[in-house]
Formats: sequence, structure tokens, C-alpha cells
Amino acid sequence: MIGAAVAAAALLLPAVAAPAEEGDPRQGRRLAAQSCQGCHGMDGISKQANAPTIAGHPVDYFIRQLTAYRDGGRHDEQMSIAARDLTDEQIRALAAYYSAIELEAVRIPGRD
Ligand code: HEC
Repeated sequence: MIGAAVAAAALLLPAVAAPAEEGDPRQGRRLAAQSCQGCHGMDGISKQANAPTIAGHPVDYFIRQLTAYRDGGRHDEQMSIAARDLTDEQIRALAAYYSAIELEAVRIPGRD
């Protein structure tokens, strides 16, 4: 009886322990093409004087910022609109896409 209960718990565990936390970068790429590239580019490098480069941000930071724009904790005229209708899943997907882009510093002032 106890054995059966443990087995049942073990079967349930993966469903509870592994929610869809990891975003899908391919979904993120599609969303970026639709709603972000005009200002941030498909490569995450700023395309507008007032828009920051967002490539390579840590996933957690990226998710926190987008969620804050959406929920009102961080306000910006453009970003609050861009993030307004995003679901948590879409935010994770966008984070997975943009965060995976690797940046390399090619010029470091004062280095040589
Ligand atoms: C119309 C231009 C525009 C569009 C479209 C846009 N953004 Fe932005 N984004 C900005 C600007 C401007 C800021 C800086 C806002 C501020 O000062 O808080 C910003 C900031 C951000 C930041 C925070 C960066 C940081 O360093 O904290 C993230 C993340 C971001 N945008 C992601 C996105 C994503 C993902 C999309 C598509 C869903 C998107 N943006 C669409 C203009 C835009």
C-alpha cells in the first residue's frame, strides 16, 4: 500500500517539478520578427537611438524586465505597449531567443 503510494507520487512528480519554464527560442524568434525587430533588431543590437541592445541579457533579467513593463512595475512609452499583451510563455520564449545571442566586445577603451 505504501509502496503504491510512493510509486504514484513518483509518477506525478515530473509533471509538478517540470513546468514549461524553458522558453522556446523558435517561438521567440517568430515573436521578435513580428514585434521587436524594428527597435531591437533580430540580432538584439539596438536599431534606434533610444532603444537598448538586448542581445545576451541573462534570461532571468530579461524575463523580469519584460514582465515589469507588462505589469506596470517599469514604465516606458514604447515598451509598455510592446509588452502589454505578452503571455508568460511568450516572455520566456523571447528571453530564450534574445539571451542566447552571444556578444563579443571588440573594443575595450584603454586596453591597449
Ligand atoms: C518601438 C520601439 C520598441 C519596440 C517595438 C520594442 N522595444 Fe524593447 N525597448 C525599447 C526602448 C525605448 C527601451 C528602453 C525603455 C526604458 O528606458 O525603460 C526598451 C527596453 C527593452 C528591454 C529592457 C532592456 C534593459 O536593458 O533593461 C527589453 C528586455 C526589451 N526592450 C525587449 C523587447 C522585446 C522582447 C520586444 C518585442 C516584444 C520589444 N522590446 C519591442 C523600444 C522598443
